[in-house]
Amino acid sequence: MSSEEMLYAQGAKIWVPHAEQVWESATLEESYRKGAGFLKIVTESGSLREVKLKADGSDLPPLRNPAILVGQNDLTTLSYLHEPGVLHNLRVRFCERQIIYTYCGIILVAINPYAEMPLYGPSIIRAYRGHAMGDLEPHIFALAEEAYTKLERENCNLSIIVSGESGAGKTVSAKYAMRYFAAVGGSESETQVERKVLASSPIMEAFGNAKTTRNDNSSRFGKFTKLLFRNQMGVMYLQGATMHTYLLEKSRVVYQAQGERNYHIFYQLCAARAKYPELVLDHQDKFQFLNMGGAPDIERVSDADQFNETVQAMTVLGFSINQIADIVKILAGILHLGNINVSKKYNEGTDEEDTDSCEIFPNDIHLQITGDLLRVKADDLRRWLLMRKIESVNDYVLIPNSIEAAEAARDALAKHIYAKLFQYIVGVLNKSLNNGSKQCSFIGVLDIYGFETFEVNSFEQFCINYANEKLQQQFNQHVFKLEQEEYLKEGITWTMIDFYDNQPCIDLIESKLGVLDLLDEECRMPRGSDESWAGKLIGKCSKFPHFEKPRFGTTSFFIKHFSDTVEYDVNGFLEKNRDTVSKELTQVLCESNMQLVKQVMVLEEIDTLSVDSAKASTLGGRVVISAGRKQVVPSKQHKKTVGSQFQESLASLISTLHATTPHYVRCIKPNDEKIAFKWETAKIIQQLRACGVLETVRISAAGFPSRWLYPDFYMRYQLLAHRSKIDKNDMKQSCRNIVTKWIQDEDKYRFGNTQIFFRAGQVAFMEQVRANLRKKYITVVQSVVRRFIHRRRFLRLQMVISGIQRHARGFLARQRVQKMREDRAALILSKYAKGWLCRRRYLRLRHSISGIQTYARGMMARTKFHAMRDHYRAVQIQRFVRGVLARRAYQKRRRDIIICQAAVRRFLARRKFRKMKTEAKTISHMEKKYMGLENKIISMQQRIDELNRDNSNLKHKTSEISVLKMKLELKKNLEGEFKNVKAACQDKDKLIEALNKQLEAERDEKMQLLEENGHAQEEWVSQKQQWLGENEELRRQVDQMIELAKNAEISQRTQEDRMLAEIDNKELNEAYQRAIKDKEVIENENFMLKEELSRLTAGSFSLHARTASNASSQNEEDVGYASAKNTLDINRPPDLINKNYAYSDCTSLVVKLRAILEEEKQKHKYLQEQYLKLASRNKPTEDSFRSACRSAGRGS
Ligand SMILES: Nc1ncnc2c1ncn2[C@@H]1O[C@H](COP(=O)(O)OP(=O)(O)OP(=O)(O)O)[C@@H](O)[C@H]1O
Ligand SMILES: [Mg+2]
Repeated sequence: MSSEEMLYAQGAKIWVPHAEQVWESATLEESYRKGAGFLKIVTESGSLREVKLKADGSDLPPLRNPAILVGQNDLTTLSYLHEPGVLHNLRVRFCERQIIYTYCGIILVAINPYAEMPLYGPSIIRAYRGHAMGDLEPHIFALAEEAYTKLERENCNLSIIVSGESGAGKTVSAKYAMRYFAAVGGSESETQVERKVLASSPIMEAFGNAKTTRNDNSSRFGKFTKLLFRNQMGVMYLQGATMHTYLLEKSRVVYQAQGERNYHIFYQLCAARAKYPELVLDHQDKFQFLNMGGAPDIERVSDADQFNETVQAMTVLGFSINQIADIVKILAGILHLGNINVSKKYNEGTDEEDTDSCEIFPNDIHLQITGDLLRVKADDLRRWLLMRKIESVNDYVLIPNSIEAAEAARDALAKHIYAKLFQYIVGVLNKSLNNGSKQCSFIGVLDIYGFETFEVNSFEQFCINYANEKLQQQFNQHVFKLEQEEYLKEGITWTMIDFYDNQPCIDLIESKLGVLDLLDEECRMPRGSDESWAGKLIGKCSKFPHFEKPRFGTTSFFIKHFSDTVEYDVNGFLEKNRDTVSKELTQVLCESNMQLVKQVMVLEEIDTLSVDSAKASTLGGRVVISAGRKQVVPSKQHKKTVGSQFQESLASLISTLHATTPHYVRCIKPNDEKIAFKWETAKIIQQLRACGVLETVRISAAGFPSRWLYPDFYMRYQLLAHRSKIDKNDMKQSCRNIVTKWIQDEDKYRFGNTQIFFRAGQVAFMEQVRANLRKKYITVVQSVVRRFIHRRRFLRLQMVISGIQRHARGFLARQRVQKMREDRAALILSKYAKGWLCRRRYLRLRHSISGIQTYARGMMARTKFHAMRDHYRAVQIQRFVRGVLARRAYQKRRRDIIICQAAVRRFLARRKFRKMKTEAKTISHMEKKYMGLENKIISMQQRIDELNRDNSNLKHKTSEISVLKMKLELKKNLEGEFKNVKAACQDKDKLIEALNKQLEAERDEKMQLLEENGHAQEEWVSQKQQWLGENEELRRQVDQMIELAKNAEISQRTQEDRMLAEIDNKELNEAYQRAIKDKEVIENENFMLKEELSRLTAGSFSLHARTASNASSQNEEDVGYASAKNTLDINRPPDLINKNYAYSDCTSLVVKLRAILEEEKQKHKYLQEQYLKLASRNKPTEDSFRSACRSAGRGS
């Protein structure tokens, strides 16, 4: 089974031609069999038909696309790329889904909806920004975005070619494209440049658009707007714009077909005439140039409002108020010029009409107004309207104009003025839009008239169709021809596709002896006419395949254009090609007093496309229409025809377009009635064929529309392959690696010599892959960066939080601690306060108790004390009394004893004296005496030895005292302990005080007793005196007796006595002296000891010691009293007593010392007494004394 048999099986859906609908859907009733010659089908309308086929099956009807593919965004993605498939797809989208845009490869097909679509707001612009063409629904913004992205990416020039028949929506599409560029290429807020670019449209539309039967706002000129972009840090900013216009339909100024209008600006001016009374304007119907079409109004459009908009836009674009005023004057002048009445002229004095001349009345109001408005001489104007000048070699001739000629001159002048004014306005716009822009990249938007074919097609249609032929060729060259050549050049296996090349058609128009050449030649002929030119044309151009001569007559010719065959009426071709205007009339205008008129009339025609745009801007308003070089138009001979100018400007445009990357927008007009979403298949299919969409589909299906140079591809897509697959030195291989990695289907690409070729959609796929990968990488980078930022922020936050926490915790802890402290302090305070209160209460209590106790004890003690004192006093009294009594008794007894002793001693002494007296009278006695003395001496010597021994004993005692001193040192150590004890003794101090007081009292008593003692002593002294007196008496008696005895013995023993006495005295004195010395030594030692003792006692107890003098002054009586004193211990310092009380240890020590001292004293006393006894015993008698005294007296 062949593939056709498989596809055309029963039930398969096919398209069959239809008379009205062009294509009709049908289903196969029977399966196709090769060679059958027919197909049985059931049409959509239900009729069963049989379709005849060729035997080889080469004319099998096209298959329908599966339902899933219907409504595709891109026509090239359809499975079956054929006319009915494309048509059906567009229809489904447009009619059912109301989608007006569809892609067809690189072409954007835009079907005019004739309805307001919510598709062009700023939000939609934002939505399409940054998205590739395939990402979102097809849209003019998507195409513009594609161009803008390419501009940004490659920094190359681009163009958007918008084509389509009149009313298809070219101008609207171009405006939206420009709006998109202004939006994305400018800043968020509209800047001056964007405002100017957008504001240029209403001006151009006012001056260049008019209402036609096809379009209420038909552009009557071609426009190529270059939007200039400046690259700033990789972003393209709209810098300015330049505008190039093509072939303004001048004839419209003076003539409009039925149902059409003149240029909008005239009607706008008439609507706003109240603002300009000086223009002397009237209703539009009153002007010849405005009322020809009979349809002066446009639905839903207010000319007055439009005028305001135009003036506002002109202000934005830098037109001054004066400029605008002058412009409206010129416009009004044109209108008034049209109203100048050219009337028949009659031969003077007759009613015969002069057909060779005509008349304009000098007082023609419009003539005058025209003159006034244009500031020209109305007479001159009139003159040159009525006449023309024909120059010969040396002279010139003035020939009057016929009515037709005068009217033609008038109309030509009006057209000329308007064309120049249009040129001037474009110039000012260019100056304003491109104010000093540097060399920038541009995106050109070409809004040029589409292919036209009317019932009667004239020179304009010829030019328009010629332009479309050229543009189609450019399209062909871009899409097909160049593409195929490129494939061959690149060495890609490629089956040549048969495509329509319109070069032969262009050759017919452009080539030598082509239509334009012949036309120019005919124009140069002085007697050339449209008919003669037609004849020549038929004669010369019949060889061209695209030329067809008319079947009848020679007033027309046919040209087979790429879209359709058009019949052109030759009438007016020459005149329009010549575009002549009376030189004299232009001269009149050149001499105008209005600056603008002068300025406008001297404008030169220049092709700004072929010269530097900067230079063009400085030229101030020179616009395209004509030749490639600046050309002054000095004379008629050198003036180029309109056809040749147009040809040159077209060539310039095409070369400009070739230098750019073109993007195509094909606008389709769905119906002639301007009804919203009304689909007229026949009309649409004709347009699709005409604009090459179907050809594109065909080629796209077979070709590789996208291509990349290896380095460019490498640079852009190197990130799509692993590093190991990328080699900078072998870009080709690297590109191969990238492509083969991502595109598995080998048919989708081809590797050329210098480029890689991709089938439609593959680059978008690669872009998508790249974008995805970039997105992935960017996401990774972003994630890393974000992680870093967030981590840093987190760490900071953490640090800050921990800081805050730390401080907060610290704060809370401090607060807690503070509270605890306060609690504790409060506790302590309360404790102390309570303690203090308790203590105070306690102390008060104790104080009061102790007070009570004190008082009680005091009272008790006082009571006891009083009792004790009383007792003591009683005892003391008793004691003293007893003492007194005892002493008295003693004294009495003693006196008695002494008396007795004295009596006895006297008796014994007398007896002894007598005895001695008798003994003395004997020598033996003397000897005995001497013997006795010797014994005495010996005994005294022994006594001295004893004393010495005693002395040594005393020394030993002294050493003991040193020991005691050491003990005293120890005692000092004990003082520390004493201090400790001292505190304990405090209590006892009071007691001591009490005792002291008691002692004081006792002392007082003692003093009393002493006084009594004093009295007793006085008594005793008086008795003593008495006794002394008696003793003296007795002594005198003894002396007398001794005198008597002495007198007796003196004489005998004087010599011996003296000698003995001297010896005795001498020895006695010596012994005595020694004894005294010993005594003194002992006393000194004793004194020293006492001193030491007293010092010690004084140092330790601050005791008051008795002085040595006191000691020495002691007598017998003192000794007697001493016991009493010692008993009472009155000489002891009270402190010592107290101390003795206090310090039992010390006291015992001191007591011991005292005891030792007392002992020593006793010994000393005893020794003294012994000595005294001995001294008294050895005391010389009165005689010896006397003899000694006498011997002493003699000696002296
Ligand atoms: N995209 C659109 N949305 C809505 N209406 C549109 C759209 N495109 C065109 N139209 C309508 O179609 C009319 C004609 O459009 P436009 O003036 O752009 O046609 P054109 O192709 O420029 O015709 P001409 O060649 O005569 O200048 C517009 O005035 C507008 O009403
Ligand atoms: Mg237009």
